[in-house]
Amino acid sequence: MTEKNLKKQQRDKKPAAAASPHAAQVASGSLELPKPEQTRSLTVANQKGGVGKTTTSVNMAAALAHHGLKVLVIDLDPQGNASTALGVEHRTGTTSSYELLIGEATAPEAMQQSPASENLFCIPATIDLAGAEIELVSMVRREYRLSDALNRGFLDQEGFDYVFVDCPPSLGLLTINAMTAVNEVLIPIQCEYYALEGVGQLLGNITMIREHLNTNLHISAILLTMYDARTKLAEQVATEVRDQFGDVVLNNVIPRSVKVSEAPGYGQTVIDYDPSSRGALAYLDAAKELALRGDYQPHESTGPIGVSPEIAEQLSASAGAEEPEIEVDN
Ligand SMILES: Nc1ncnc2c1ncn2[C@@H]1O[C@H](COP(=O)(O)OP(=O)(O)OP(=O)(O)O)[C@@H](O)[C@H]1O
Ligand SMILES: [Mg+2]
Repeated sequence: MTEKNLKKQQRDKKPAAAASPHAAQVASGSLELPKPEQTRSLTVANQKGGVGKTTTSVNMAAALAHHGLKVLVIDLDPQGNASTALGVEHRTGTTSSYELLIGEATAPEAMQQSPASENLFCIPATIDLAGAEIELVSMVRREYRLSDALNRGFLDQEGFDYVFVDCPPSLGLLTINAMTAVNEVLIPIQCEYYALEGVGQLLGNITMIREHLNTNLHISAILLTMYDARTKLAEQVATEVRDQFGDVVLNNVIPRSVKVSEAPGYGQTVIDYDPSSRGALAYLDAAKELALRGDYQPHESTGPIGVSPEIAEQLSASAGAEEPEIEVDN
């Protein structure tokens, strides 16, 4: 079977969450989420603006924290939107990701607890970070500043289960720092016109970072955001993304919902602002899916794109059986 057919087969199969007997338990929250063996660190990236990076970072984090997992969000966007949504201080002068990157503060010094949950922490971003792209250029190990600051035992000592790094809408040094500090990339894709615009370039950058800066980096999840079930367009985009990327795309999609967009105005995630809203439930389900399925690693034939273990096995088997392929007339 070709890779393309496999992807089609995956797309056609029923969403696991809907089909499995676990689904009701998962949806009701009665299913315990597994603690990962090691801290799972994810960069939430897409250089296209306004696709739901920040909303995804804070709500996935809040959803996992809601289930008792210890989660850190690192705000690496000078806009500081993730810090706002998590209700943490980020006025100028606050110790932030900027000081962390330039080596003026340690991670414990920059970290704050979110008022939303005792399990949820944030290293905020202040407007100072806007100058960091330029300041970093002349610094030693400029691509690894975040990685160096985090990997001095900090994540283990603190016992974090998940780390999400919210990136700015660019592929500059801040995003590169995010990608050398983690293994996994989560790409939010907005179900709108030009959804895949720039995704090729993002893939190219991830491939380059894998080759030169961080061999472990891979795309472990793609999340469809702002899905409007009333439009054909949303469905078309979803189908196109699933066709192109296979089962790395989460089955759960995030609907367009006013509650999701209102929540940051109250310094909250939608999980706290309105836990029973469609948006909150969708993020809870997507977070459960991400936690339950674990890290999707790439197969040697899929570049930086992760696949489920089942698909990886099928790809290996079909690669072994590939030649000679004999056409049989019937
Ligand atoms: N599911 C949703 N339903 C409705 N509005 C949403 C949804 N997700 C995000 N939004 C809104 O869309 C806008 C962009 O979302 P967000 O800030 O998360 O994107 P972003 O990719 O982080 O943007 P930027 O590139 O500027 O950092 C925000 O106003 C947000 O509240
Ligand atoms: Mg953002």
